[in-house]
Amino acid sequence: MTRPIAVLDFGSQYTQLIVRRIREHHVYSKIYYYRTPARDLQKDNVCGIICSGGPASVLTRGAPHPDADIYNLNIPILGICYGLQLMGVLLGGQVGASAKREYGHSTLTLHKKGKLFQLLPKKLRVWNSHGDNILKLPPNFQAIAHTENTDIAVIEDPQRQFYGIQFHPEVAHSEQGATILRNFLYRICQCKGDWSMSHYVHTVVEKIQHTVVEKNVVLGLSGGVDSTVAAALLNKAIGRQLTCVFIDNGLLRLNEYKQVKQLFTKLPLKCLTIKAGAQFVHQLKGVTKPERKRKIIGNTFIKVFEDTVKNRIDNVGFLAQGTLYSDVIESASAPTALPASKLIKSHHNVGGLPKRMKLKLIEPLRDLFKDEVRALGTELGLPKEILERHPSPGPGLAVRVLGEVTPTKLRLLRRADTILLDEIKQNGWYPKLWQAFCVFLPIKTVGVMGDGRTYESVIALRVVESSDAMTADWARLPHDLLRTIANRIVNEVKGINRVVLDITSKPPGTIEWE
Ligand code: XMP
Repeated sequence: MTRPIAVLDFGSQYTQLIVRRIREHHVYSKIYYYRTPARDLQKDNVCGIICSGGPASVLTRGAPHPDADIYNLNIPILGICYGLQLMGVLLGGQVGASAKREYGHSTLTLHKKGKLFQLLPKKLRVWNSHGDNILKLPPNFQAIAHTENTDIAVIEDPQRQFYGIQFHPEVAHSEQGATILRNFLYRICQCKGDWSMSHYVHTVVEKIQHTVVEKNVVLGLSGGVDSTVAAALLNKAIGRQLTCVFIDNGLLRLNEYKQVKQLFTKLPLKCLTIKAGAQFVHQLKGVTKPERKRKIIGNTFIKVFEDTVKNRIDNVGFLAQGTLYSDVIESASAPTALPASKLIKSHHNVGGLPKRMKLKLIEPLRDLFKDEVRALGTELGLPKEILERHPSPGPGLAVRVLGEVTPTKLRLLRRADTILLDEIKQNGWYPKLWQAFCVFLPIKTVGVMGDGRTYESVIALRVVESSDAMTADWARLPHDLLRTIANRIVNEVKGINRVVLDITSKPPGTIEWE
């Protein structure tokens, strides 16, 4: 059984990166809520703990602290930035605000390499982001490196295997950051490097079998990568005990229902397909606010899903969802989410469903990033055409028709969107992009066509690159391709006379417009 590295999350924007870097070294790692009790970490048999950075100052009242017993577990600990300052205040040292805050690059000079810096040169360019410093070392610690601005930039207590570093080894701007993490994993925590995707599949399959026993599981399939990979994983674990439900909510792209249904015929899944489009579109009549739309769609989904399960599936005990790490962060509801993270959009976790139906929740992808889910899908033998599909929001086109959703606007949007996707695919861009879609704007503009004046609707193109949707940038599509897309939309979709391009990155924008 592979032993994980626990990353306690104190709210750093890089926590996910730390976990990711560790997995790249073939060691399993998971993010834990910062106050996770020490005994739970022990139960999980973790072989090392990393305390992440965080936005707070340890000097502030109420700043997040871990369970103090983590320092008595006899398990190696690495504190990064805020995690280092915690060691300072909790183990008997002293921390104070720096005279000079350090943001960006600095040069780290080592006085001693210790196990953490084995195989590394004496000087390294590292990346910092901190306002506090260790002023006095805790007992039994020694300082082993400084930077131009900080006397104590790295501390260690080799006896207890506690290490603290002021900079961020997980970001690409820190030279040799990967080697530092590798040294912590292999030289200090004695990790075996026995983790791989197939290992992950094996562990999760066993866990699901152990949890589910004789009950049945339902899963809402959307045709997207996440729910399909979750379904394939559950299918491997419990086969016919899993029933998938695919609901046509009337907010899908052109022919999407047919295409998805056809894709599923290639998989050995038990799948019920339900057409409920009219019901959803009717409920949205007159509604203009994005979060209200999401709530209505979520509630209608719950109703349709609940009816289907009640009437057509027996002995259901669990609801499975393909929730990813990024959904957890942006919806910010789960105990593993950042302590200070705020609700950005209520994503697709259909929150009310399990409680109302008295179901337990299974979320086998909860710790993974999108590209890891794709790798998992490959491991499970899913076809490329499923794994390469762009993500689609649960509320579908409802959040791409700005303002009130009507059948006419949906029809125009679908036609424009099909042209965009056609061109993107034909020109080889589809696999390079995170998402490409059209947005129907709630305004009309004047144009001229032939000899006549037009007064019609506007379509915005949203085409972005990203690796996990947490950040995104607009794709630099060639001008000629953009021209073709715009010409085709205006010429072929009657009712649209103008096309605009969205060149906002995330942040500050979000990918979807609502
Ligand atoms: P934003 O717009 O927040 O989107 O930058 C990030 C990613 O999440 C998708 N998205 C959603 N997915 N339900 C979902 O299932 C939603 O309500 C929702 N809103 C956004 C979006 O398409 C992008 O990939």
